[in-house]
Amino acid sequence: MKPAIHVASLRKTFTARDGSTRTVLKNLDLDVGAGEFLCILGPSGCGKSTLLNVLAGLDKVYDGTADVSGGRIGYLFQEPRLLPWLTAEGNLDFALSSCRVPTKRWEQLKSRYLAMTGLSDYRNYYPHQISGGMAQRLALVRALCVEPGILLMDEPFSGLDEITARRIRTDLLTIWEETRKTIVFVTHNAYEACFLADRILVMMGGAFEQEMRVPIPRPRSYDDSAVFELSRDVIRAFGDGMGRPTPAGRWPGNVAHGWSATSTATLPPA
Ligand SMILES: Nc1ncnc2c1ncn2[C@@H]1O[C@H](COP(=O)(O)OP(=O)(O)O)[C@@H](O)[C@H]1O
Ligand SMILES: [Mg+2]
Repeated sequence: MKPAIHVASLRKTFTARDGSTRTVLKNLDLDVGAGEFLCILGPSGCGKSTLLNVLAGLDKVYDGTADVSGGRIGYLFQEPRLLPWLTAEGNLDFALSSCRVPTKRWEQLKSRYLAMTGLSDYRNYYPHQISGGMAQRLALVRALCVEPGILLMDEPFSGLDEITARRIRTDLLTIWEETRKTIVFVTHNAYEACFLADRILVMMGGAFEQEMRVPIPRPRSYDDSAVFELSRDVIRAFGDGMGRPTPAGRWPGNVAHGWSATSTATLPPA
């Protein structure tokens, strides 16, 4: 079956005012299957948002292939980006109108996703009248309302307290299990990646370094020690977050969790 997202030899180079160049995405290859939940895990500055911007079509200046064929794209950012002069419902209507979703479908879509995220009673609230967690939930509803086939999520819960983030992650998994949208979720939180993903790609310095499938059965629970144990191994694989390997000098967990190297790049010295 054709993948929902197909990326081949993707390179992205930024040119500074003085003419100097910096390659931020280095020959990325990536296929994401329809309905897959993929997490891209990497430290700040490794190119995660740049990659999502290319996939979303916001950045069209790159070399290589970046085909997205799984339907409309929904994009969720770290911050909710709601329009402050519109109510919760007004924000949803704005998105539905912008995406030309037929008006007769609006009510059904809004009720469905507001109910799934516990926001049914807040339609008439303005963004400043709801909490940060509710605002991010509303942003998720806005992304889902326009019936995307693909959801791109850029560290969407990293600005929330852990208790709130846990609730929204659980909501997201429930919604994903019901709707089976293709999700590319970017994070620097290994525990979050292990809790959510079918597959994790570790990204460093603009390249995919490691790939693994997450063998933990669904539905997943925060009480499942397997999530913690796997995230511990992933953090070890991360090294110290600066691309340096663990003290043993090699990626751990290769055998136990099926890690595989995705590039032949050598790691920088510790
Ligand atoms: N518009 C831009 N012009 C120049 N450099 C950029 C631009 N956008 C991002 N970068 C650089 O590309 C690198 C990757 O950025 P980004 O994709 O935002 O990383 P991440 O999302 O993983 O934190 C960073 O070093 C950043 O400074
Ligand atoms: Mg980013």
